[in-house]
Amino acid sequence: MVLSAAGKTNVKGVFAKIGGQAEEYGAETLARMFATYPQTKTYFPHFDLSPGSAQVKGHDKKVAAALVEAVNNIDDIAGALSKLSDLHAQKLRVDPVNFKLLGQCFLVVVAIRNPAALTPEVHASLDKFLCAVGTVLTAKYR
Ligand code: HEM
Repeated sequence: MVLSAAGKTNVKGVFAKIGGQAEEYGAETLARMFATYPQTKTYFPHFDLSPGSAQVKGHDKKVAAALVEAVNNIDDIAGALSKLSDLHAQKLRVDPVNFKLLGQCFLVVVAIRNPAALTPEVHASLDKFLCAVGTVLTAKYR
């Protein structure tokens, strides 16, 4: 991963602002992803994808927690998300392009909720971080 020390500080700063609202950010990110890129819904045929459904809420929480885990282990994202990487590679096999879509939606949510925080530098750092997470989650595809 190519995040510099300053980049890591930027990412941690954004997540410090997100704080206890991580689940809400996760919820808005997924809602935007499903609405804007409906092809992402094809991975969830077994879910009730209507906004606020119990399944979506449960998933928002898990995705948000995984992102927080990655930030808390920013020097070893591969180690921190190892099990999740196995799951996405062995079972889910989500096309890697979808991780970029989720990342875009997360950036939009951060921009809306923290317009002042998302300077171009912070935007670039967050983008690199989200790419690193996507790379880890698709690293074990065979
Ligand atoms: C499951 C995280 C991207 C599709 C999960 C779980 C987590 C997670 C934490 C739950 C694992 C468990 O229950 O043990 C993430 C993170 C992502 C990401 C951090 C990127 C930042 C995606 C994308 C898609 C996707 C882009 C597809 C568009 C799925 C599916 C499941 C899943 C289908 C299984 C849901 C279920 O049956 O409960 N993901 N994910 N993920 N993810 Fe991802």
